Amino acid sequence: MPSPDSPIGVFDSGLGGLTVATELFNLLPAEDVIYFGDVGRYPYGPRSKEIVTRFSRQDINFLIEQDVKMIVAACNTASAIALDRLQEEYDLPILGVIEPGAKSAVATTRNGIVGVIGTTGTINSNSYAKAIECLDPKVRVFSMACPLFVPLIEEGYLDRQASYLIAEDYLSPFRSNGIDTLVLGCTHYPLLKGIIRQVLGEDITLIDSAIETAREVKNHLTAAKQLNPAKKSGSHRFYVSDIPDQFAHTARHFLGEEIKNVMRIDIDKY
Ligand code: DGL
Repeated sequence: MPSPDSPIGVFDSGLGGLTVATELFNLLPAEDVIYFGDVGRYPYGPRSKEIVTRFSRQDINFLIEQDVKMIVAACNTASAIALDRLQEEYDLPILGVIEPGAKSAVATTRNGIVGVIGTTGTINSNSYAKAIECLDPKVRVFSMACPLFVPLIEEGYLDRQASYLIAEDYLSPFRSNGIDTLVLGCTHYPLLKGIIRQVLGEDITLIDSAIETAREVKNHLTAAKQLNPAKKSGSHRFYVSDIPDQFAHTARHFLGEEIKNVMRIDIDKY
């Protein structure tokens, strides 16, 4: 039975959710965190609702076996297309990244025109636009799938000319539709903030749903009286569904350092 000193479970299709995990480490230093990256079945972005739901269910089952007290679906695609169903299926609290990002966008926009970028799955689901509309129907939303961003980031192309050109191609329509706020609706995109700013200028506020999600986790645990009372630094454990070395190596783009002791599990068992 989970208790306040149980860990928080975080899952993502791979490495990207480390942007969310990093914010959790910063905001909730006493919490133990177990991270599962489904690197063996990455990417989720272009896959169907059925497949992403099935994969996410297995990710959750693995985390539940680790006796976590709540789960964060750090993957935007899983949050966008599978979360409703999964929240119905499980008793454990499962928090996604869409609501927090949408709330922050609505609170930030001054002119009521918001842009959203994400994977094909996230953008086709229209989840951000729906969440924003629920919060404030007057806000107009322009969305754009940017499927090439994830592979570029995974390859470490964070400030290359090629990434700039692709960003220019994807994002230039946002210059003419008057957005003042852009939701980075994918785990990876915070790493391209520099290039996105070069393309769109400094006047557009970028919403990083990782930070907002960490705040929501803290709010949830506080309200549920489930914050870890320990005065120590929490432990962080990492599990993956394929070769751990590659994960540990590429993780440095996300965490600023390599992770040691990444363990491989057989996700098909779940
Ligand atoms: N984690 C995914 C997301 O945030 C990006 C990577 C993928 O396509 O699996 O949508």
